[in-house]
Amino acid sequence: MKAIVCSNYGGPEVLRLVEVAKPTCGKNELLIQVMATAVNSADVKVRALAMPGYLTPLMRIVLGICRPRRPILGTVYAGVVEAVGTQVRQFRKGDRVFGSTGFNFGTYAAYLTATENSPVSRMPEKASFAEAAALVFGGQTAHWFLQQAGLPTAKKPKLLLIGSTGAVGTAAVQLAHAYGADITAVCSSAGKELMEGLGVSNTLFYDTVDYTKCGGSYDVVFDAVGVVKKSDIRHLLREKGRFVSVGSLSYATETKAQLAAIKALYESAKMRAVIDRTYSLKEIVEAHRYVDTGRKKGNVVIQVASLASETG
Ligand SMILES: NC(=O)c1ccc[n+]([C@@H]2O[C@H](COP(=O)([O-])OP(=O)(O)OC[C@H]3O[C@@H](n4cnc5c(N)ncnc54)[C@H](OP(=O)(O)O)[C@@H]3O)[C@@H](O)[C@H]2O)c1
Repeated sequence: MKAIVCSNYGGPEVLRLVEVAKPTCGKNELLIQVMATAVNSADVKVRALAMPGYLTPLMRIVLGICRPRRPILGTVYAGVVEAVGTQVRQFRKGDRVFGSTGFNFGTYAAYLTATENSPVSRMPEKASFAEAAALVFGGQTAHWFLQQAGLPTAKKPKLLLIGSTGAVGTAAVQLAHAYGADITAVCSSAGKELMEGLGVSNTLFYDTVDYTKCGGSYDVVFDAVGVVKKSDIRHLLREKGRFVSVGSLSYATETKAQLAAIKALYESAKMRAVIDRTYSLKEIVEAHRYVDTGRKKGNVVIQVASLASETG
């Protein structure tokens, strides 16, 4: 099967399209034909081993000392179940599924295997594979951080969302709307239309104002790009206000429950996939180059295969 392998840490050009053996599924696993994946900020960090210096030795132990131990990168997918192991009960051949593989990686490939208890779910009805793949990374991360902040159970919470135009940010906007939050979004003026399209009426453009000096009183400040410290925004928090940040040492855990929530929101038209660009698997180097800029809006999708029914 075709797969992208990362044979060294480095720039986008370390990624190569090669032929590798197609995996087979174990008794509690699904064999999934990957139709779409996405290039996320975390993928490019793993490829480049780009993390704060103090974390690098730890990440080398986790990911591989000289090169990724699991050379096929990618952590999110949407595809079709091609076969199931003898002990699999929740899924059948032909199911359209989406999910994440976490530190198992392996989604930049024509096929992958996933245990049925891993974060995998049937896709939202009517979503394309590209849309389903685009919903996962930001959706799961934003869901986790907003839960940590207690947003879903708060009464009409006021949220300051810093970095509202990335994968995590655009998902956070939509989840926060669904939780009934009053959102003030922080992005650059390049994100104006995107924010309007997602129904955000209060936006502070960080390239024209210093939002840390704009006042306000928030129940939750969520930094979805990891650019501020709590000391920068403490004065904007209400007495029991919470600050959560993707830049902290907290690490989002991916669950099936998050996928169920995302699927339900998509099906009730409360969440949509925000796709900036789409590339083919053989264009992976260009896709990584674009994500490396740190300027993508929403998600960058990789179309791995197409079904006749999707291409018309
Ligand atoms: N801790 C965890 O568990 C966890 C999990 C997932 C992701 N993360 C981290 O979360 C971060 C965000 O991920 P992502 O995939 O959403 O990133 P992304 O999509 O690559 O974020 C890019 C977006 O951020 C905006 N941006 C850049 N600098 C900004 C600033 N100073 N203020 C406000 N917006 C800014 C950019 O818009 P403009 O260029 O227009 O500003 C762009 O739209 C990454 O650093 C990732 O590693 C952490």
